[in-house]
Amino acid sequence: MKLIFEKSQPGRRAGSFARHDLPVPEVPATLRRRQPPRLPEVAEPELVRHFTELASRTFGIDTGFYPLGSCTMKHNPRVNERVANLPGFRDLHPLQEEDGAQGALELEWRLQEILTEICGLHACSLQPAAGSQGELTGLMLMRAYFADRGEERDTVVTADTAHGTNPASVTMAGYKLQKVGTDARGNLDIDDLRAKVDERTAGLMLTNPSTLGLFDEGIEEVAGIFHEAGALLYYDGANLNAVCGISRPGDMGFDIVHINLHKTFSQPHGGGGPGGGPIVVRDTLEPFLPVPAVVRDGERFRLDYDRPKSIGKVRAFTGPFGVFVRSYAFIRAYGPALKAMSEVAVLNANYLLARLKDAYELPFDRLCMHEFVLSARRLKREHGVTALDVAKRLMDYGFHPPTIYFPLIVPEALMIEPTETESKETLDAFVDALLAIAREADESPELLKDAPRKRPVRRLDEVKAVKRAVVRYRFEEHPDLSQEPSEARMLEVQKGA
Ligand SMILES: Cc1ncc(COP(=O)(O)O)c(C=O)c1O
Repeated sequence: MKLIFEKSQPGRRAGSFARHDLPVPEVPATLRRRQPPRLPEVAEPELVRHFTELASRTFGIDTGFYPLGSCTMKHNPRVNERVANLPGFRDLHPLQEEDGAQGALELEWRLQEILTEICGLHACSLQPAAGSQGELTGLMLMRAYFADRGEERDTVVTADTAHGTNPASVTMAGYKLQKVGTDARGNLDIDDLRAKVDERTAGLMLTNPSTLGLFDEGIEEVAGIFHEAGALLYYDGANLNAVCGISRPGDMGFDIVHINLHKTFSQPHGGGGPGGGPIVVRDTLEPFLPVPAVVRDGERFRLDYDRPKSIGKVRAFTGPFGVFVRSYAFIRAYGPALKAMSEVAVLNANYLLARLKDAYELPFDRLCMHEFVLSARRLKREHGVTALDVAKRLMDYGFHPPTIYFPLIVPEALMIEPTETESKETLDAFVDALLAIAREADESPELLKDAPRKRPVRRLDEVKAVKRAVVRYRFEEHPDLSQEPSEARMLEVQKGA
């Protein structure tokens, strides 16, 4: 497909407007461009067709199954969009005075209450705009809490299965990182952990269920070890989809939780947004939460800035409001049956696991939670077929690839999360495709090494895409990289989003 610049013809326009005779403001000469920008010049039909064709080549949750482990790509109920688009929500100015924004403030307050209950904790701030920002905010709360107590602690422990944002947030928050291993059952290695927790430890940052899709069987003992050392427990809530209404992070012993609203409670996210990463905490940490807090006074709702110990603001206004409306609508549609959401997500994952574990290896052979991690290492050993090849071949069968090469402790990892919103027919079709691919790997492995064959774009050179990214059209000087030899080396990048 040609670039829009390559379709450009001088003088062609998608629209033209009558010249007005309003005064033109004088732009200082130093700020004026020397030449007009070289924009693509196309007529409206070409313009519309170009972007429609691009859109039709894009894969998303609305076009097919998207089993991306650790990302919870579920269907976004359309009613949520309708609700978020109600003029009273959509047209509200963020600086609207409180009297005129009572409905919006009430929605935020109610969402805070629900999230607090789901987590089994005491207070909530909706401000952070993503899971990773929630992580940073949570660690800033930890820092403020210990500073207030006059304690000097400088280390945060994470698991070797942790998502890349965990160590990144720990480092950004100014803490030293201490990694703990995973035992043979996929739990945190308690002996390793004991040796690494002392009076310098500020806390643990953990996902439960882990990115292996396994619920940590020793979580109460783990919580005891940290609390005895005076440290705090941070729950990375990216995997909350597995446990809503079944178990609560607060009851497991966690003190701070972030929730990825865009995962567990649906949002049309991906490609960078929109997201929401609210923080929920135990009462001892409430004074440090970001301001303004959304509070209720009798029948009225207001913003409270009077929190002297607050870490301050982490995002503009009270957070990504449209995300709150959608998540609130999503949760209220379930009502008390929210538990069924997690139960079906776990059931779907275990169904896939049971049907796939003979064709692919299952490194930790246990019942899984909402996701699980298989390994393609047998295919690699016997046929030279990698997890990347399997993922690319799945695209030919019409499915988005699962997450691959993550978590890092599983060689040739294929991390699969079906979510609760997929039908049995879709799950079966996905299994059939993966089983067919395993057979192809045995019988004609070249089919996989060459995949995808039926997509608009064939196998991309990932190394070149990272190292020689061309993101700007440079007209006569635009480089043609297609003739350059590609690097056969496969890039095993850690999944980052
Ligand atoms: C386990 C885990 N933690 C944290 C994050 C970060 O969340 P976000 O992408 O909203 O920043 C993710 C995202 O995929 C994740 O899977």
